[in-house]
Amino acid sequence: MSAEKVTTSEQIAIGVAHSKLILIGEHAVVHGQPAIAIPFPLVGVESVVEYVPGSIKFDSSFYHGPMNLAPKTMQGIVNSVKETLNYLELPKKDLLIQIKSSIPPGKGLGSSASVAIAVVKSLFSYAERSFTTDELLELANISETVNHGSPSGIDTLTITTECPVWYEKEHPIYFIRPFDDFHFIVADSGEVGDTRTAVESVTRLLRSAPKIIQGKLERIGELTHQAKHALEKAGKNFLGQLLNEAQKELEALGVSDAKLNRLIEFARQEGALGAKLTGAGNGGCIIALAKNEVHSRQLADKLRKFGAQAVWPFVLKAQN
Ligand code: PMV
Repeated sequence: MSAEKVTTSEQIAIGVAHSKLILIGEHAVVHGQPAIAIPFPLVGVESVVEYVPGSIKFDSSFYHGPMNLAPKTMQGIVNSVKETLNYLELPKKDLLIQIKSSIPPGKGLGSSASVAIAVVKSLFSYAERSFTTDELLELANISETVNHGSPSGIDTLTITTECPVWYEKEHPIYFIRPFDDFHFIVADSGEVGDTRTAVESVTRLLRSAPKIIQGKLERIGELTHQAKHALEKAGKNFLGQLLNEAQKELEALGVSDAKLNRLIEFARQEGALGAKLTGAGNGGCIIALAKNEVHSRQLADKLRKFGAQAVWPFVLKAQN
């Protein structure tokens, strides 16, 4: 794989990354169950690395200044930058790293993972080096581990692909080829979530009631297996039911909040075939499955009027 090669004569290099959505399997995937995630190209990150003498500096909407004074919330990306520079045998100086993102953070859309992937890609490009997916994931996951504690790895992986991904820890990756177009709507509840807190709360629950919670995680795993079948063969009506079932389990795990529930309920009332939270939850976004393209546009409009902070209709295209 080659990094985006830009005008190296001017010592500027760019790395880009799209976002991701978890269709089904979030939280369960941390505990060994499978999950399905979809690349989400409607929002993304661009990282521009430029030769600027002096210490390494960041320029982003959340921080502007020297890397060594970056806030704690940026510690993940700082660690990824340092490790990538070590790996590339580049000096830790004379760089300005500009990060431009259209991914709202804390909304379950993989903002931190996209930033990490885009920044690592831009540093490879700056060094005029190509990279393998494994190199990219290893260096970006350094940031994700700081941000999320024990990430499953699904976010960074999906951000490096163009196809829906079947992901199960320590298993080979499988790319799903949808047999039909699936029309989804992503809607932002307006609340910011925190992945680390949500993941830790499920882990605590699992420790306190292992049998019951393990049962729920396994049920999500079963639904995820069925969702793969729905994408590859059985179709949208079945997929919709599975999304609704998964939402029940996520509610029982305590990761869906009132605003998410309200949006999900509204989407279903307005004819969505299924709807659930996407990502870590307790804030963030929902994903709803529409009947077709026209319904998707109508539902998106209605969700906007109902108060969703942002709404993105998008189609997962058939791949034959
Ligand atoms: O909200 P996000 O995009 O950070 O989703 C993380 C998905 C989880 O399953 C909750 C955590 C993980 O590492 O897989």
